[in-house]
Amino acid sequence: MNREDALGIMTSFLEKESLRNHCLATAAIMKALALRIGGDPDQWETIGLLHDIDYEVVGGDMQRHGNEGYQMLLERGLGEEIAGAVRRHNDILHGKSEKLVDVALQSADNISGLIIACAAVKGGRITEVTEKTIRKKFKERSFAAGCRRENVEDITRFMELSEFFSLSLTALQGIRSELGLS
Ligand SMILES: [Fe+2]
Repeated sequence: MNREDALGIMTSFLEKESLRNHCLATAAIMKALALRIGGDPDQWETIGLLHDIDYEVVGGDMQRHGNEGYQMLLERGLGEEIAGAVRRHNDILHGKSEKLVDVALQSADNISGLIIACAAVKGGRITEVTEKTIRKKFKERSFAAGCRRENVEDITRFMELSEFFSLSLTALQGIRSELGLS
């Protein structure tokens, strides 16, 4: 599946712009992570784009989140490698996974919102966000409280947190116009 097709599926199921941006951001970080720690860049990008595909369908029911997405993707011809990662990323249902792609998705999923929130503080200018901004805001637990810090920290098995922040920031700066940021 190419990026255009994955984007088409994503936007056909997710209406909310913030959620679409969250998926775009998570995908950009996943791609950068794949290149850094040894995943398939296109596949990891697709997983990032599609990981919350069922979010509006399940309407916040975390007992269905991920499992529903898994079925939706299988029905659309996606394979177990992509659909399975989407299913497992709901760690409330499936617990923590040791798989490389799952650790990457947890980290990317959780840092993307915090970096977008940092850009919002800077008036939507993500080019003004630095690794230091992210590090500071990461320590401020009340900032972007939906960012589960402990899930982000799992990436330290592969790299320093500061490297992960930089890699993620660069990835989001690279798609800033798609995210509606400058
Ligand atoms: Fe997500």
